[in-house]
Amino acid sequence: MTTPENLPEPLAIDGGPPACPEPLPFMGGADLIGEEERKEVLEVIDSQSLFRYYGTDSRWKVKTFEEEFAQFVQIPHALAVSSGTAALRIAFHACGLEAGDEIVMPAFAFLACPASAMTCGLRPIFAECTEGLLLDPDRLEQRITAQTRAILVVHMVGAATDMEKINEVAQRHSLMVIEDCAQSFGTSFRGQLVGGLGRAGIFSLQAMKTISSGEGGVVVTHDSAIHHRALWYHDLGFQRPDREGPALVGENLRMGELAGAVALAQLRKAPTFLEKMRLTHSRVRQATEAFDHLQVRKVPDPAGDNGSALIIELPDKDQGNRFRKALRAENIRCDRCSDKLAYQYPVILEAMGEFEKCPETEARLQRCVMIPLSPALKEEHVNGLILGIQKVGASLQQ
Ligand SMILES: Cc1ncc(COP(=O)(O)O)c(C=O)c1O
Repeated sequence: MTTPENLPEPLAIDGGPPACPEPLPFMGGADLIGEEERKEVLEVIDSQSLFRYYGTDSRWKVKTFEEEFAQFVQIPHALAVSSGTAALRIAFHACGLEAGDEIVMPAFAFLACPASAMTCGLRPIFAECTEGLLLDPDRLEQRITAQTRAILVVHMVGAATDMEKINEVAQRHSLMVIEDCAQSFGTSFRGQLVGGLGRAGIFSLQAMKTISSGEGGVVVTHDSAIHHRALWYHDLGFQRPDREGPALVGENLRMGELAGAVALAQLRKAPTFLEKMRLTHSRVRQATEAFDHLQVRKVPDPAGDNGSALIIELPDKDQGNRFRKALRAENIRCDRCSDKLAYQYPVILEAMGEFEKCPETEARLQRCVMIPLSPALKEEHVNGLILGIQKVGASLQQ
């Protein structure tokens, strides 16, 4: 282990040279957009057919993406849509949730989780998270009321929630489970890929995600009735190919062929992205674990983590801030896992009125630092990243 005595250089924050000569790539699959994406997009441009359902010379990129996505996640139905937020709204409607229903979700989730619930007329209920910042099945149960109809599991930052325990609670209370896998493409729980472990699942293809088309989302399910309702809802209720109906009052949340083309090329590269991310994650994790005061996030199934980021918990908020600032000076992109819990946005707080908060998760979030691990990180980047953690980790130990 590197110790303060044998450190090669002072910290960059104190004027030493940074561990990484340049800022590291930090996005995800978007960092590796290249020839494959260009070829798919140009094919669509040349076809002059940008709409997914018809055109003069359609190339059916969205349809092909859906078929290959379904195969990849091993779930029979996949519907590509305009965003992850749209996918959440579609999933809530397709699963039959109705205005006034309560949906329990982890406090550590993205704004889109409560916002999409609220725009569907649902009331989000927030539950505390485990030390790994995932929905805590034990404490979730305390938040269930007579109005609760569903649990929104959010597999945050690449790691799977304990789906066995969540499904037990759901069964006991006759609740449906919807999985938000926006941040966990390729993640598995005990050998099964996330997305197919509840009634429906959603993914996001936004710019920071493991595979990206800039904007985009996917709704997945094993249930063909849910798939049909999702299909109709995202297409103004139409029942194509004949445009019969509409079967229900829906919205236009369709994906276009240009996004489909990029998504398809990214999906085909996903196995190499995931392999690279997992390898980097394991190396950076090992280096971090050498320091007692750097607590690597504990998750129910570490082997299933997609490796998209490493979360490190420091003993307190001040050390978390110092660690973060010092790492940034080393040219290592890192941040809090999020500035806020899902309910800490003023608009959500205002709309919620009185509700039970999650102080434990609030405090933990302040102590945690997240380092994104892009599949574009090269060997020298990973070496620099590890060196930076060793330098900063050792300095905090002093
Ligand atoms: C956990 C989670 N859910 C939902 C979303 C919404 O996805 P989108 O940005 O594609 O609407 C995101 C996006 O970042 C997310 O992180």
